[in-house]
This record gives sequence, structure tokens and C-alpha cells, in this order.
Amino acid sequence: MATLNNPFVIYGYKGSEYFCDREEETEKMISALHNERNVTLVAPRRMGKTGLVKHVFAKMEKQDKDIKCFYLDIYPAKNLDQMVGMLGSEIIGNLDSVSQAAMRRVQEFFSKWRPTLTIDEVTGRPTFSLDIRPSEGRETLKQIFEYLGQSGKRCYIAIDEFQQILDFPESGVEALIRSYIQFLPDVYFVFSGSQQHMMEEMSLSADRPFFQSSSMMTLSCIDKEKYLDFANNFFKGQSRAMDEDTFEYIYDVSDKVTWYVQAILHGIYEHSKDVIDRQLVDDVVR
Ligand SMILES: Nc1ncnc2c1ncn2[C@@H]1O[C@H](COP(=O)(O)OP(=O)(O)O)[C@@H](O)[C@H]1O
Ligand SMILES: [Mg+2]
Repeated sequence: MATLNNPFVIYGYKGSEYFCDREEETEKMISALHNERNVTLVAPRRMGKTGLVKHVFAKMEKQDKDIKCFYLDIYPAKNLDQMVGMLGSEIIGNLDSVSQAAMRRVQEFFSKWRPTLTIDEVTGRPTFSLDIRPSEGRETLKQIFEYLGQSGKRCYIAIDEFQQILDFPESGVEALIRSYIQFLPDVYFVFSGSQQHMMEEMSLSADRPFFQSSSMMTLSCIDKEKYLDFANNFFKGQSRAMDEDTFEYIYDVSDKVTWYVQAILHGIYEHSKDVIDRQLVDDVVR
């Protein structure tokens, strides 16, 4: 990964060197998945759920070349068919290396949905899209899971913004997914979402033991001392430093929300003023 001009990332996950702490949470999630447990990650928006999931997957894929991790953000999905379409594009084609044999397998498995292969112009990565007609979602989902099952590979699937299924016009989506999951021999899931809605989903869920049998995780704020160390590591490169008092102030102003803390640090890093103090924080926030 190229070195970033501004190490305080405010959008997406850019690698472990730009990721602060979350060591315990990382270990906990990896351990749960490694021991064949699904994970439910619930925390307020912008605390770092997506970042953590990507960090965990990057680490796992680095440690074990034989596994496959799939990440899906279903925030844009408006119904089951759209979610299944997204799942299909993420999984199909990324499961196997793109060989002739793999292509044939996809064509055979999904012939009903006329899979088309497109090469992503930016990444050069081949992706398949399926032509899912309205209300074929359920059937396609079954097929996708069967495809995973016969791959013989250990797979991990993260479904981010999972609370989105509450807004789907179809009912019982969670129950549907759950019914498949129980029979998938070597596929484990991370469901992540924002507090209120996920909690709602869990209490609505007919079979709450499903959620209870998965490992529940939440995210609180990042430890202050560790965060200050992380920040100063980068400010050192600019021959600057931040003192505890100033960082304390940032934590006050930001309500300890990771995204907001990052945004302030990002602004300070961009600012050329020599001394990092409360005044500079105010200037950046304004
Ligand atoms: N541990 C971390 N270290 C540094 N930046 C982080 C960390 N966790 C999250 N961020 C940053 O904070 C922002 C919000 O995190 P995100 O994972 O998108 O939150 P959520 O998914 O909970 O809404 C992202 O831009 C991300 O770059
Ligand atoms: Mg997120």
C-alpha cells in the first residue's frame, strides 16, 4: 500500500499501519470465527465497526491463504433481490481464481440468471453480475449458498449495515438467512450494524437464540493513551507533538466518536501551525 500524505484516514480502511489499537477486539473476533462461531457486532455509527471488520479480514487472509473473506455493505440495498444481487457479485468469481474451469462452473451453477462477466475498469478485477428478476432473490440466495458449500473452502462473510433488512418490504429475511446458515458446513458470518436498529432486529427475531449463540461484540471508544501515542507517532514525522491536555480536549469535543476524532487529527495534520494546542483544535473544528 502506498504511503498516505495524510495518515489520519477519514474514509475507508487503508491498512493496519493507519489503524489505531482495537487489538483486543481484533483478537476476540478472529478467535470467535476461528472457533466456528458467528459474530454480531453492534455499536453506534462511526465508532469503527466497518474498519474493524476490514482489519480483521485483512489479518486473517494474510495469516491463512486458504480461506476466503467476503465483505458486503447492504446499506444501498432496498429489498432482498438487491441484497442477493450484491452478495452474488461479491462471492461469485472471487471464490475461485479466474480460470476457465471456474468460469464454466459459474456458468453452470447460475445459468438460470445468465451470469455476465465484467472487468472492473479501475481495479481490473473480474466480477460477475446476475440477472435476478423480481422475487427470485430467495432462490438465488439458496444457489449462492450451495455454490459456497461445494467450493470446499472455508469462507467468512461480513454483512455490514445488517439492520437494513428491517426496511426490506419482504418479511422474514433474517429467518431465511439463518435457515441457510445452519446448514453451511464451512461458512461463518459477521453481522454488523448500528445499535438501535440491530437491537430492534434482535428482539423482533423469532429465534433469538441464533443471535445469542453468535458472539456478541460492541465497540466503545479507543483508549486515550493508545490513541495519543498513535497520533504522536505521525506528528513526530512533522517534528510536532500533541500533549495530553490537547488530546483530552479533542476527546471532549468529539464525544469520543472515532470518525470525529480522526477528522480533527486529519485537520491538524494538514495545518502547518507549529504548536498543537486547544486553539488549533478550535480552528480545525470550525
Ligand atoms: N481503529 C481506527 N483507527 C483509525 N481510524 C479508524 C479506526 N476505526 C475507524 N476509523 C476511521 O473512522 C471512520 C469511521 O469508522 P467506520 O469503521 O466507518 O465506523 P462505523 O462502521 O462504525 O460507522 C472511518 O473513516 C475510519 O477510517
Ligand atoms: Mg460502517
